[in-house]
Amino acid sequence: MFGLKVLSAVLPIAILELTVSAACSGDAWDVIIVGSGPAGIVVADRMSEAGKKTLILEQGGPSYFATGGRARPDWLNGTELSRVDVPGLYKSIFSNSDGNLTCPPEWLNSFQGCTVGGSTAINAGLFFQPPASDWDRYFPDGWKNADMQRAIQKVREKQTSTDNPSQDGKRYLQSGYEAAKQWLVDGAGFKEVGLNDGPQNHTKSKVFGHPVFNYEGGQRSGPVKTYLQSALARENFSFMTGARVLRVSREVDTAIGVEVENSDGGVNATTEHCVTDGGRIIVSAGAILSPQVLMWSGIGDAEILTNISSLGLIKTPSQDWINNTAVGDKVFDNPNTFIELYSDSIASYNYSYSDSRPEDRDLYLQSRSGPYSFASETSAFWDIIQQDEDLVGVQGTIDSSGFQDYFEDGTITLNVYGTSGLRSFGRVGLDAKGIALPTSNFYADKRDAQAVATFIHNIFAALPSTLKPLNIAQNSTVDDLTTWVSTYSPYTMGNVQHWSSSCRLESCVDVDAKVIGMKNLFVVDASISAPLTTNPAMGTMIIAERAVERILALDA
Ligand SMILES: Cc1cc2nc3c(=O)[nH]c(=O)nc-3n(C[C@H](O)[C@H](O)[C@H](O)COP(=O)(O)OP(=O)(O)OC[C@H]3O[C@@H](n4cnc5c(N)ncnc54)[C@H](O)[C@@H]3O)c2cc1C
Ligand SMILES: *[C@@H]1O[C@H](CO)[C@@H](O)[C@H](O)[C@H]1NC(C)=O
Ligand SMILES: *[C@@H]1O[C@H](CO)[C@@H](O)[C@H](O)[C@H]1NC(C)=O
Ligand SMILES: *[C@@H]1O[C@H](CO)[C@@H](O)[C@H](O)[C@H]1NC(C)=O
Ligand SMILES: *[C@@H]1O[C@H](CO)[C@@H](O)[C@H](O)[C@H]1NC(C)=O
Ligand SMILES: *[C@@H]1O[C@H](CO)[C@@H](O)[C@H](O)[C@H]1NC(C)=O
Ligand SMILES: *[C@@H]1O[C@H](CO)[C@@H](O)[C@H](O)[C@H]1NC(C)=O
Ligand SMILES: *[C@@H]1O[C@H](CO)[C@@H](O)[C@H](O)[C@H]1NC(C)=O
Ligand SMILES: *[C@@H]1O[C@H](CO)[C@@H](O)[C@H](O)[C@H]1NC(C)=O
Ligand SMILES: *[C@@H]1O[C@H](CO)[C@@H](O)[C@H](O)[C@H]1NC(C)=O
Repeated sequence: MFGLKVLSAVLPIAILELTVSAACSGDAWDVIIVGSGPAGIVVADRMSEAGKKTLILEQGGPSYFATGGRARPDWLNGTELSRVDVPGLYKSIFSNSDGNLTCPPEWLNSFQGCTVGGSTAINAGLFFQPPASDWDRYFPDGWKNADMQRAIQKVREKQTSTDNPSQDGKRYLQSGYEAAKQWLVDGAGFKEVGLNDGPQNHTKSKVFGHPVFNYEGGQRSGPVKTYLQSALARENFSFMTGARVLRVSREVDTAIGVEVENSDGGVNATTEHCVTDGGRIIVSAGAILSPQVLMWSGIGDAEILTNISSLGLIKTPSQDWINNTAVGDKVFDNPNTFIELYSDSIASYNYSYSDSRPEDRDLYLQSRSGPYSFASETSAFWDIIQQDEDLVGVQGTIDSSGFQDYFEDGTITLNVYGTSGLRSFGRVGLDAKGIALPTSNFYADKRDAQAVATFIHNIFAALPSTLKPLNIAQNSTVDDLTTWVSTYSPYTMGNVQHWSSSCRLESCVDVDAKVIGMKNLFVVDASISAPLTTNPAMGTMIIAERAVERILALDA
């Protein structure tokens, strides 16, 4: 859908020579990375830093202004900003598709970013460190909190973030924060903290605070503005956009290259990019598409492979398939519940793409300040619900406006997610055309709904008389809430698009992130993560740093 092109724009870049040799296009690479999401970019930066000749192939097109992205509302005319750069335009991605930032249905049956930066170019920028207990409880040896310390430090040093994004130093839209603080801190025993404080033995238990965002200078930052920039400065690094990888070419257990779809009507349907002898291919296509890339490469559930092989989508003969049902299995997204809350003391705020309030537009344009310097979230909090031996992570994030049927001024929306430790998982399958289609299977295990209901029940018990829930009764029992959260409505059973865990360590990939059954093919992205207590972007970058440490150690 995008022409094959090399990312250039205002970035310093090593221009990729598109010379075509017999089977392989151009030189062979030490490392080819499929996908420029946060994981792919971290991996590319560290691999090129280690002296490896590195190529990233991204199927999507430009996003941030600095990458050539130009989609934006008129009020940004004359600036060096695209819609991606302005944090306050976050929610417009759900209603306005200008710029082709999200994956089209021919590529993916889900709402994700398919552009430079992956979903970090379209997300809210919430940037939260997972608690130490996530690594210790849900990751294998070599990935425990103590093992993750260097990776955590590297991400914290390289990726800027802030919980006070407005450049005039003032906090905006704080009436919702104050109401939530009175409720949760004064009433329900949460501690008000800096939400990423304490890197070494990090906790997200009974804490409340200002959201941390990966912004800089009042604009969206993220790996495209940090890690990708240092990679682009290296002569051995190249980045191609408009390059959709169909499958990995392999000789039995050795990956030799990737096949990229030619969308420009060239002579051949595909172009092959090859790795050197001893080179590596790293799939960082995200938790839904990495399983698809593996399946099209003849690695996955034999039943799915049989199906798509009849569509001609697999080039590897069946005796060389790696039949592994763990590919795509146990994919996870957070089940979401929206609770509408009203108080006379709250001023709701609506963000707008093209009709922003003139004073807020000017504040942003003149000094990168005001409501447009952040996405709409004003507070976040976490608790851990104990169920027998199990601990279930639960998160609340409060937005600046109402939703659906509740828009009266004074209304704000609390998103409640189940996060870590749940037992219900979905699966990444392929549709009749072979395109990835995830299911989420929320609350298949009823204890998951009970955990979320218990969290809501606990905090509702502390609601002050001034703050009223509008779409669910304050005096609901845990049973009422269990039924409510697990019954479909515009407020319940929602996906938040935080997909992870579809190619897990030790079953789909080994502890070095190497695809089981292959010698030099890896998956490094949200696929290999266990479900985290926090929104996944920061955790995914930490995982990528750790995976690189382990992959480079294989050279020794
Ligand atoms: C609307 C939305 C809001 C979110 N909000 C937050 C938030 O505020 N905070 C947070 O922490 N997380 C948030 N997330 C989730 C977070 O952005 C993701 O967890 C994270 O981006 C996953 O990173 P990744 O590297 O695994 O893959 P992705 O970000 O999915 O990147 C994968 C990239 O690979 C490319 N690709 C895929 N297949 C191919 C192929 N075959 N060939 C070439 N390229 C390919 C894709 O185009 C894409 O650019 C949000 C997600 C969405 C969709
Ligand atoms: C097309 O493929 C053939 C056979 O692999 C190759 O020889 C030729 O160079 C390719 N042409 C182009 C334009 O890629
Ligand atoms: C570039 O890559 C080649 C091939 O791996 C390597 O020999 C060379 O040292 C690298 N150069 C730099 C500056 O990293
Ligand atoms: C902004 O730029 C667009 C595209 O160039 C143009 O169509 C539009 O009229 C401009 N709007 C204003 C207010 O200048
Ligand atoms: C964006 O997508 C639409 C619909 O698929 C397509 O017609 C258009 O050419 C694309 N725009 C760009 C800039 O690629
Ligand atoms: C980490 O903090 C937890 C409490 O949050 C405590 O129980 C544990 O002992 C601490 N671990 C280390 C290694 O300091
Ligand atoms: C295989 O294809 C058939 C027919 O389209 C479908 O019913 C079945 O669910 C598919 N199996 C898998 C595992 O996707
Ligand atoms: C994988 O499964 C397919 C379908 O059942 C079978 O034909 C093939 O022989 C299997 N391959 C291997 C290597 O086991
Ligand atoms: C926000 O938008 C909704 C829906 O368009 C509208 O009903 C409401 O009055 C707006 N609220 C404010 C505070 O502007
Ligand atoms: C909740 O309160 C309402 C009246 O405010 C009452 O009708 C209802 O029975 C109560 N429900 C429960 C479960 O206590």
